[in-house]
Amino acid sequence: TFVIGENCIKCKYTDCVEVCPVDCFYEGPNFLVIHPDECIDCALCEPECPANAIFSEDEVPDDQQEYIELNAELAEIWPNITEKKDPLPDAEEWDGKKGKLELLER
Ligand code: SF4
Ligand code: F3S
Repeated sequence: TFVIGENCIKCKYTDCVEVCPVDCFYEGPNFLVIHPDECIDCALCEPECPANAIFSEDEVPDDQQEYIELNAELAEIWPNITEKKDPLPDAEEWDGKKGKLELLER
């Protein structure tokens, strides 16, 4: 499965959702997640993210391992998203900032 990591938080560009053949993205207020049971590992979304926030599960950086469980947990709660929308207003400013996990809104 593929996993969305920290750099999506407060950016949420949503380019990823347009290419997913199985529509397995779920949307929260300032972050997206992938449903691990629905993702078919096609890898199409990974290069689409301007923030480079998407990883194959086995390539998630050591300091973002908790995002694997977080994607699984939040995908069960949040609504599905299949169409691209505008990024969050300060997306460019937040792109690449560290320590965004504490800013995650549920
Ligand atoms: Fe969707 Fe493919 Fe990305 Fe999985 S890897 S979330 S199936 S686009
Ligand atoms: Fe997030 Fe990148 Fe998609 S910032 S919404 S994972 S395009």
